[in-house]
Amino acid sequence: MALWTPHSWQHFPAQQQPVYGDAAELEASLARLRRLPPLVVPEEIRRLRGLLAEAALGRRFLLQGGDCAEAFKDCTSEAIEGKLRVLLQMSVALTHGGRKPVVRVGRIAGQFAKPRSKPTERVGDQELPSYRGDLINGLEPSAATRRADPARLQEAYFHASATLNHLRALSAGGFADLHHPERWELPGGTGEVPAYRRTLDQVRESLDFLEALGGVQRDALERIDFFTSHEALLLPYEEALTRWVAEDSTYYNLGAHTLWVGERTRQLDGAHIEYLRGIRNPIGVKVGPSATPEHLVALLDCLDPGREPGRVTLISRFGATRIQAALPPLLAAVQRTDHPVLWSCDPMHGNGTESASGYKTRDFGAILAELRQAFELHRAHGSHLGGVHIELTGEAVTECTGGTEGLSEADLARAYETGCDPRLNGTQSLEMAFLIAEMMRG
Ligand code: PEP
Ligand code: CO
Repeated sequence: MALWTPHSWQHFPAQQQPVYGDAAELEASLARLRRLPPLVVPEEIRRLRGLLAEAALGRRFLLQGGDCAEAFKDCTSEAIEGKLRVLLQMSVALTHGGRKPVVRVGRIAGQFAKPRSKPTERVGDQELPSYRGDLINGLEPSAATRRADPARLQEAYFHASATLNHLRALSAGGFADLHHPERWELPGGTGEVPAYRRTLDQVRESLDFLEALGGVQRDALERIDFFTSHEALLLPYEEALTRWVAEDSTYYNLGAHTLWVGERTRQLDGAHIEYLRGIRNPIGVKVGPSATPEHLVALLDCLDPGREPGRVTLISRFGATRIQAALPPLLAAVQRTDHPVLWSCDPMHGNGTESASGYKTRDFGAILAELRQAFELHRAHGSHLGGVHIELTGEAVTECTGGTEGLSEADLARAYETGCDPRLNGTQSLEMAFLIAEMMRG
């Protein structure tokens, strides 16, 4: 294989890239980005790799979740706190019910670029470039807003850094301290999840007991580990955040702790895989209906030649009606190799439907059905499911149907806010976490 550099991807075909009108303007923006400080540090990435390696061995469980696409306008304290809160609540449910420590990774602080099925869309009588995420263009359907704007690369960096700063301040400031019940409440306006209240009471009782014995250090409970991730889609941006780390004599992407490659951009001879093979971060790979066993094994050989635990997380996303046929041949192919992968399940992207009124939606029951089958298929084939990857928000949105609130298609219009795919709301997410915890125990 040819020598890797942070820009060697430029010699390979790159899917899903916007066309920038002015090369000089793009280069000026990238030059600025290359000089800005990194968002995360290698030490944190090494730590995450270690935790994911343990998850691959079945000792931990990965919870990865957040928006389909973050929007600059939603970079607010409420939205950030809401997402952190729901992920923490879910991790309490998973740790308590599933009996495993949880590795928390947000789709946050950089999830600003989206792959699209078509490069343009028809709005009224205009053919406009599709919205590709705030990193690239704006959602408003006008020719000016849909232009790929290089200034957005810097805006994305600064929004990611503001988000991360707030996440870090919250976690250093004891946001996750279980001794503060008010911080653990579900957001107003959402339904009750009775199992959550009981779990929280039990967790607090256990803590009181351990503290009485002098067995837990209070600051260990107040600090939280929380990592960031996004899809490595817009390669010039990712390249600009790729930095040489002399200590390890290698390159890291210091724009997020972990990155994943999407279903549409994981061609073996494509630019995205070329870029990802050279960075030291843990890498996620979405695995959907187009993946063959041969392709998957070749991808693993390329991304993880050293067979290092924690390096690759395979994220299956087939849909509830396809997973049964599609997953087992891939599990078998991976088992025939000695790649120590972590398997996760994204039960969202294979279960999209359109409501009669034209909303993109997903049903709680279908999401649950895919997860249930994923756990069972892994068990039946001598493998294990070590994580989940979910699109969610802390807000009381109405984007997915089902759950105990009983949201129906008629409810979707009430609070449908996503600029991209439909997300589970706070209550649905927490309910899902309790159901996943049951499945973890088998
Ligand atoms: C996503 O995670 O938002 C996404 C687009 O997923 P996939 O590449 O699996 O379709
Ligand atoms: Co999505």
